[in-house]
Amino acid sequence: MTVELRSSVGAAGARILGVGAYRPPRVVPNSEISEAIDSSDEWIVSRSGIRSRRFAGADEPLGSMAAGAAGKAMAHAGISAADLGCVLVATMSNVVQSPSLATDVAARLGAEGVAAFDVSAACAGFSYALAMANDMIRAGSARYVVVVGAERMTDIIDPYDRGTAFLFGDGAGAVVVGPSDTAGIGPVVWGSDASKRDVIGHDSSYLEWRESPERPWPVMRMDGPQVFRWASWQMAPVAQRALAAAGIEASDLAAFIPHQANIRIIDTMCRVLKLPKSVVVARDIATTGNTSGASIPLAMEDLLARQLAPSGGLALLVGFGAGLVYAAQVVRLP
Ligand SMILES: CC(C)(COP(=O)(O)OP(=O)(O)OC[C@H]1O[C@@H](n2cnc3c(N)ncnc32)[C@H](O)[C@@H]1OP(=O)(O)O)[C@@H](O)C(=O)NCCC(=O)NCCS
Repeated sequence: MTVELRSSVGAAGARILGVGAYRPPRVVPNSEISEAIDSSDEWIVSRSGIRSRRFAGADEPLGSMAAGAAGKAMAHAGISAADLGCVLVATMSNVVQSPSLATDVAARLGAEGVAAFDVSAACAGFSYALAMANDMIRAGSARYVVVVGAERMTDIIDPYDRGTAFLFGDGAGAVVVGPSDTAGIGPVVWGSDASKRDVIGHDSSYLEWRESPERPWPVMRMDGPQVFRWASWQMAPVAQRALAAAGIEASDLAAFIPHQANIRIIDTMCRVLKLPKSVVVARDIATTGNTSGASIPLAMEDLLARQLAPSGGLALLVGFGAGLVYAAQVVRLP
């Protein structure tokens, strides 16, 4: 006789219950960056929309920034560390290979015995992790999941590289996802284009660096114009598919929260999506820069904290980055 296995059963739906942010206090204007890359405030503003970003100091390790954002999201959601079933951290700038950053965050939160792991999907990492949290809760693998995007991009950027030095910043954002009677997170539309794997990524491995210590520390390099074209034109259709998968129209949205990569990419996506004027568009790249995996939760927290988007409104999220990888979903704002 075949022995039948039991399957876990979760909630009917999942939704974001709280959001939190950690922004390093040090504000770095373009004027502080431009000399090293022979650039100017005017060039950086006109090509990227960025006026300033935050840089973390030596006393702000990645784990502490991530736990700071997670703790605020948990307070907003009204849950304690004992309620957590999983800590999920999206990051591309953790320079420690093991243990995972998520276990560091779990320890800092006092979440004893909780499942914890990292997700590696670069600037799409938060959107990937959010999709996984949604599935975990509906499948019954966890009841509450804290999803964190945390980056110290300054640790993996060459401050003399004209193509990247002005774009990136440091910070952490987090959401708590929990059970809900109805869907608060729409189906994810995700994918990859591995033929463009060389377009963004580290310029060498740690092994190569160990073999030839005269090489510089591995840093991120990017073919900016190629990424720009791909993101501007390929991501709006992905966003459109996420709207269709959730069964809603652009006019049902309260907010559009795309990955904060470049203001011109955001503006192009808005034009292609034909977003009605009633939809608030996250544009905190101006004062945050591109914080990779942290950018979407940071932008969401900013919109809600400044009451630019309503709690309970629908928001379209689109993450994209190195891989190249992407993920989009519609969520109900906490
Ligand atoms: C990086 C980026 C802002 C560069 O803008 P761009 O308009 O594509 O600029 P280009 O690289 O084509 O360079 C245009 C000119 O500016 C110059 N330039 C490049 N970097 C410069 C800098 N930091 N400061 C001043 N001038 C610069 C170039 O030398 C070139 O000069 P030329 O016309 O005399 O040859 C843009 O490509 C971009 O945002 N790409 C997407 C990046 C991104 O979002 N990455 C993360 C995705 S997750």
